Amino acid sequence: MIKYDFSDKVVLITGSTGAVGSQLLDFFTSHGATTIGTYLDEKKRNITPSGSEGVDLIRCNTTIDSDVSSLVSAISRKHGRIDILVNTVGGYLGGKSVVLLEEEEWNKMFSLNLVSAFLITKYVVPLMLQSGYGRIVHISSYTGISAQGFDSAYASSKAGLIRFVESISKEVKDHNLTVNCVLPSIIDTQSNRKMMPDANFKQWVKIDALVTVIAFLCSDGSRAITGSAVPVLKPT
Ligand SMILES: NC(=O)c1ccc[n+]([C@@H]2O[C@H](COP(=O)([O-])OP(=O)(O)OC[C@H]3O[C@@H](n4cnc5c(N)ncnc54)[C@H](OP(=O)(O)O)[C@@H]3O)[C@@H](O)[C@H]2O)c1
Repeated sequence: MIKYDFSDKVVLITGSTGAVGSQLLDFFTSHGATTIGTYLDEKKRNITPSGSEGVDLIRCNTTIDSDVSSLVSAISRKHGRIDILVNTVGGYLGGKSVVLLEEEEWNKMFSLNLVSAFLITKYVVPLMLQSGYGRIVHISSYTGISAQGFDSAYASSKAGLIRFVESISKEVKDHNLTVNCVLPSIIDTQSNRKMMPDANFKQWVKIDALVTVIAFLCSDGSRAITGSAVPVLKPT
């Protein structure tokens, strides 16, 4: 087991009230980092992970340019830099034929899964270039490389995220910045268990296994890895 120390790092986790984001916030905080999390729904603001006392939680709609710009400016003013960004904002829409899919639903998938990733990257990268250090990890999905059918909007948006990551990684390749994404299959979350009560949960990816992969991609040990899309499929 690799021992991590992120005590000299400023870490931004978008979507830190979510199933994965909350555990990431917990992980980085308990490994010494200065952590900032974002949330959207005011009611969920108080859902903070254990050990996260003192963590900054900032409301931000990551699909809105001015919200993301203000978020990054506020962090820059307070901490001077962002070393690590893990963007967990995203959403799923499946089980619907393309014939029945509304344009609004298509746009919502692209907004949540791709526009969010674009905006947060657009505003964080300049800070990382300025400090000469950065680790960015986005959460795509295995569906981004292998669609199931009846998931065209979700699969297309997550596929787009993979190419986005590849493109940005090449853009910043001459700097000490890496940009990667992870491709989990179904994650063992409470909301998935509620939605699919008859499924075999044992086959699902555990959140702590996903957090471990992301931690590695945010560490110095992975400094040679950039532009990758890492499948996370094993229910360990
Ligand atoms: N769960 C899975 O099986 C699975 C599988 C493959 C990939 N993924 C991907 O993994 C990532 C995390 O999934 P998850 O299950 O942890 O999701 P989740 O529990 O639904 O959490 C989503 C997070 O995103 C935030 N959010 C939603 N819309 C937002 C917006 N417009 N602006 C800012 N924040 C917004 C939510 O904030 P509030 O809580 O305040 O609403 C929440 O913090 C997503 O990108 C998802 O697509 C998930």
